[in-house]
Amino acid sequence: MAQRRPLIAGNWKMHGLKADTGWVEAFAAAADTGACDVLVCPPFTLLETMGGLLSRHGLALGAQNCAEEAEGAFTGDVSAAMLADAGCSHVIVGHSERREGHAESDALVRRKALAAIEAGLVPVICVGEHRAERESGQAVETVLAQLAGSLPDISATQLVVAYEPVWAIGTGLTAGPEEAQAMHAAIRAAFPGADRDRLRILYGGSVKPGNAAALMACPDVDGALVGGASLDPDAFAQIVNLAS
Ligand code: 13P
Repeated sequence: MAQRRPLIAGNWKMHGLKADTGWVEAFAAAADTGACDVLVCPPFTLLETMGGLLSRHGLALGAQNCAEEAEGAFTGDVSAAMLADAGCSHVIVGHSERREGHAESDALVRRKALAAIEAGLVPVICVGEHRAERESGQAVETVLAQLAGSLPDISATQLVVAYEPVWAIGTGLTAGPEEAQAMHAAIRAAFPGADRDRLRILYGGSVKPGNAAALMACPDVDGALVGGASLDPDAFAQIVNLAS
């Protein structure tokens, strides 16, 4: 991790109303962000409001999804350019909740990542295996295949990868540090060229203040993508402080 600045990202998923935006001040009062980048991904409806509040504290704004198209007759979709226009620097693509709940394929995730890059955003590309794949010894193979299908042909410095084992999301289960490290090393090794050492690979799946330090101590774990615990400003600040 020495050559990569840690990134701690919060994915609020479908949580948060305007009344919850006091989160930013509470988080900023509790967090030491001197040695760590912080990204917050609220729902679309809060992007404008949260963006203004976050930028005062040097915190980055991201969205949780984008359309593959740049614009057009796509009712209900939001383009990457619109997200950039709303103040986003990042967008999550390929989260397992979208791969599963919205039947998003690797090829679609790849096109979304490309749309993000074209709009000047950094895509946070999510990959992760199911429990059965891990139990049958197919975890690395599954994740590397997903990654190969989801990655546009771009430099490792233009994106972030998030390894989120599906069985660890929202379950209270996490990959142990050895499992996480092995997967992150395999992901890094799949990137060609010297850029691979600059790629930031986040771990996600039930990251909490109590397990973040052990995960973050792994040499190829460059930060976390935090779901549930990111809704609590104190818990999220504790995770950030552990990574700094
Ligand atoms: P939890 O931290 O709630 O398990 O969610 C992880 C996640 O899906 C982040 O994108």
